[in-house]
Amino acid sequence: MIRVEGLVKKYGEFVAVDGVDLAVGSGEIVGLLGPNGAGKTTTLRVIVGILEADDGRVEVDGHDVSSQPLDAKRRLGFVPDRPFVYEKLTGEELLRFSAGLRGRVGPEVDRRIDELLELWDLGPWRDELVESYSHGMRQKLILSSALVHGPSTLVIDEPMVGLDPAAARLLKRLLRQFADQGGAALISTHTLEFAEALCDRLEVIRSGTILASGTMEELRRQAATESGDLEEVFLRLVGGIEERRIARALTGDPRA
Ligand SMILES: Nc1ncnc2c1ncn2[C@@H]1O[C@H](COP(=O)(O)OP(=O)(O)OP(=O)(O)O)[C@@H](O)[C@H]1O
Ligand SMILES: [Mg+2]
Repeated sequence: MIRVEGLVKKYGEFVAVDGVDLAVGSGEIVGLLGPNGAGKTTTLRVIVGILEADDGRVEVDGHDVSSQPLDAKRRLGFVPDRPFVYEKLTGEELLRFSAGLRGRVGPEVDRRIDELLELWDLGPWRDELVESYSHGMRQKLILSSALVHGPSTLVIDEPMVGLDPAAARLLKRLLRQFADQGGAALISTHTLEFAEALCDRLEVIRSGTILASGTMEELRRQAATESGDLEEVFLRLVGGIEERRIARALTGDPRA
């Protein structure tokens, strides 16, 4: 349902994404892992059509994102890392607006709005302005706005930010059901526990290229760690920092 082939994205001369291939099928949740600045957000933004690729192809549900952007966007739900929200809308208005942008209005949307607000315990806040929402409440609303039009494909940049443990658990169950019903989800995350618990496959990216792909088990084998500790697997794959360099940074002493 998401197919990315040979994706290249530059900012000026700087190559942020350098030939990425990946695919997410119906029923699958794929995690995009990688250090800060690896190119995760850039890749996701190209997939959802916010940025234009310099090379390569992106298809969402069979629709080319650059030549059929509206068809692709109708099928997509996107949760950005730093969402822009209209502070002067109420929670309910924001969801209605979001559905309307994808051409969805009517009783089905009304019911979905009610259900989503109830699900996230936002019912009592539905008529309050978004500016009065807490960080986690906003995240729940943004997650709802990505689902309100009934997408087949979800792209989520850092879903766990700001969510309390109960909401994080709920999100995992929601995403699992979404995939079990035939949806496809691509999720960037730094939360390794979330990646392990939820993702069917992982793509590890660094400096704009995919370093490793596969199930958690396959990545453990590639990283060849004995303990199989998640953090160690990740750090082996992307490279860590030695204690000496931390000491140098703390003291400013190059001999430390
Ligand atoms: N608008 C921009 N202009 C110039 N360079 C950019 C821009 N956005 C991102 N970059 C650069 O592209 C690279 C990839 O950034 P990106 O935001 O995709 O990383 P990321 O993997 O999402 O990192 P993080 O884990 O910190 O969110 C970084 O080196 C970043 O500095
Ligand atoms: Mg990012």
